[in-house]
Amino acid sequence: SARECTKYTHTIMSGQRLFCNERVVRTVHSAESEKNKFIPFDELISHRRQQAARSVLIQVQSEKSCSELYSYCSQFGHIEGMHHYTVHHNTHFVLIEFKKVSHVENILNKATHMNEEQIIPVEGSMFWFRTEKTRSKISVSKDVPLLIKNGCSIPTDKELTDLLLSAETMSDQMVTLYETTKLNDIGVRIRFQTAHQLERCFSGLFPHISVLPFGSSVNGFGKLGCDLDLVLRATNVNEENLNSRLVYHTKTIMSDERLQTKKFMETIADTMQHFVPGICNVRRILHARVPIIKYEQSFTGVECDLSITNLTAVYMSELLRLYSEVDWRVKPLVFTLRKWAECVGLTNSAPGRWITNFSLTLLVLFYLQFKQILPSLSTLKKLAVKRDTRVANSMVDCTFLRDLNRLPERTTNVTTLQELLHGFYEFYSQFDFHTKAVSIRDGTTISKPDYSALYICNPLEPMLNVSKNVSIEEVEKLKVNLREASWLLESTDNNNLLTILQPKKDLMTLVRGKRVVNVAVLFGEDSEDEKTNVANKQKTLSGSLNKDRARRR
Ligand code: CTP
Ligand code: MG
Repeated sequence: SARECTKYTHTIMSGQRLFCNERVVRTVHSAESEKNKFIPFDELISHRRQQAARSVLIQVQSEKSCSELYSYCSQFGHIEGMHHYTVHHNTHFVLIEFKKVSHVENILNKATHMNEEQIIPVEGSMFWFRTEKTRSKISVSKDVPLLIKNGCSIPTDKELTDLLLSAETMSDQMVTLYETTKLNDIGVRIRFQTAHQLERCFSGLFPHISVLPFGSSVNGFGKLGCDLDLVLRATNVNEENLNSRLVYHTKTIMSDERLQTKKFMETIADTMQHFVPGICNVRRILHARVPIIKYEQSFTGVECDLSITNLTAVYMSELLRLYSEVDWRVKPLVFTLRKWAECVGLTNSAPGRWITNFSLTLLVLFYLQFKQILPSLSTLKKLAVKRDTRVANSMVDCTFLRDLNRLPERTTNVTTLQELLHGFYEFYSQFDFHTKAVSIRDGTTISKPDYSALYICNPLEPMLNVSKNVSIEEVEKLKVNLREASWLLESTDNNNLLTILQPKKDLMTLVRGKRVVNVAVLFGEDSEDEKTNVANKQKTLSGSLNKDRARRR
C-alpha cells in the first residue's frame, strides 16, 4: 500500500533497521520502482560526490554535543542534514551536509589548528569540535532537526539471529538478512567523504583529479562495514583549451609505465602516511598485477584499497549495479549466498586460493540468467545507444545499456527466493566445473579455455578469468558445500535459513550426531524462552536429519 511504501522509504532513508516480510517488500519494491525511476550510475556517483563536497566531518565529545554543534555550524550556512556515528563504539563523529559548497568554504576560512608549533598544518574538511573557552553567545536548541543517530551500527550476530528467527518464511529471512546488513545511506556518505578527502588533498598538484569509489560500496552488494575500493585518476587538462598558446610546463612520464605507476603510488602513499589526518596503517602492495595502497581512515572507520586508473573495475561495478536493480530478488539472494559462503569458510577477507565475493556474485548472476530472470551482457550490449559508449584504459570496450528504464521486458519468472536459493545449490552441485566455464556475456556456459580449476569469464574482458586464483582444492570444497547445503534444504522442513548459515565445524558435528548444536542461535548467549524455542528447532532438525540418514542408508 501507499502507506507501507512511505513507511518503507522513510525507514530506509533514516538508516533505521527494517523488518518486514517478503510480500510487503515485494509490493513495496514494485511500487517503488514504478514511482522512482532507475537512477543511472553516473548520476548516482555525481550526486554522491557533490554531497561529499558539501559536507564536513566533525569529531565530537559525545552524541550530546550534536545540538551545540548544530547551533554553532548554522552560522556558516544552511544545514541540510546531520548524521551521527561512532567508530569502535566510543569515538563520536557527525557528518554535516550543507546546502552549498560555499558553506563548507566558510567553515574552512574560520577553522583553526590546535597548536601551530607542534603540528603539520594540513587543512581539509575533517575537524574536531572542541569545548568552548568562553561562554558562547549562540543559543543552543535542544532539538536538532534532521539528526540521524548512530547510523553505522552493525547488528550483532545475536540480533541478526533473533530477527531471522522472527521472520515467517525462509524467503522472508533472506529479505530480512539483506535489509538489516546492507550498506545504508550514512555508510555510503562516509565512503564518498573518505574519497573526497584524497581528492581535496591532491588537488593542488592535480586540479582535475578524481577519486572514485567502486566495488561493493557502489555496486548494490555492499554490506555495513564493507571495505572501500578506490581508484585515483589524474586526468588531462580541459579539452576545450587545446588551441591555447599557453602550454603548461610538465614533466615527462617514464617510458616504463609500470615503473612510473610504482613511483607515483609510492609518493602518494608517503604523502598520505605522513601528512593526511586520520590516515593510518598505510601498506604498499605495488608488485601486484593491479598495484594498490591499502590504508585505514580512522575518522570514518573505513578500510580502503586505492588503485590508479583502473577504470574497467569501475565499469564492472556499474554493470553489477545494473544487474542488482533488474529484479528485486537479486540482492537478497546474493547477500544470502555471500553470508553462507562466509559461514562455511568458502570466502575469507584475506586474498588467497579461495573464491572471492566478486566471483561468487558472478556465479549467482549467471544462475539468474539461466533462470531467465537476468539478461545476458550481449543483450545489454545490443540495447546500448551512442551515449552508452565507454572504453576503459584505451582498449577495453565497456559499452552496454546504462539506463534500465530502457530495458524492454522484465522477467515473467515468479520463483520465490527460497526456491532460487535451493535452485542455486542444485544447479552448481551438478555443474561440470571440470570442462565448463561460466560466461555472463553470453548467458551460457562455454568450454574452458585453459586448465584453471574454476573458470568465470570476465564479462568485460572475456579473455580473462576472474577466478584464476581459485585452487582445485577450493573448487572441491565449494562442491562439497553446495551439495551439503542442497541436502540440508531438502532434508529439513523447518524452513530455517539458519540451518545453512552454520559455521562448518558445527554443521559437521551436527550431521555426525556427535554434538547437540544450537541451530537457532548462531553466536552468543540465549534466554530461557529462546532455549525452549531452540530445543524445539533442534528436535525438528535432528528428526529430519535422522530420517534423511535412514533414507540414504
Ligand atoms: N574487479 C574486477 N575484476 C576482478 C576483480 C575485481 O573487475 N578480477 C572489480 C569488480 O568491480 C569488483 C571490484 O573490482 O566489484 C572490487 O573487488 P573486490 O573488493 O574483490 O570485490 P567487491 O565486489 O568489492 O566485494 P567485497 O565486499 O568482498 O570487497
Ligand atoms: Mg571490495
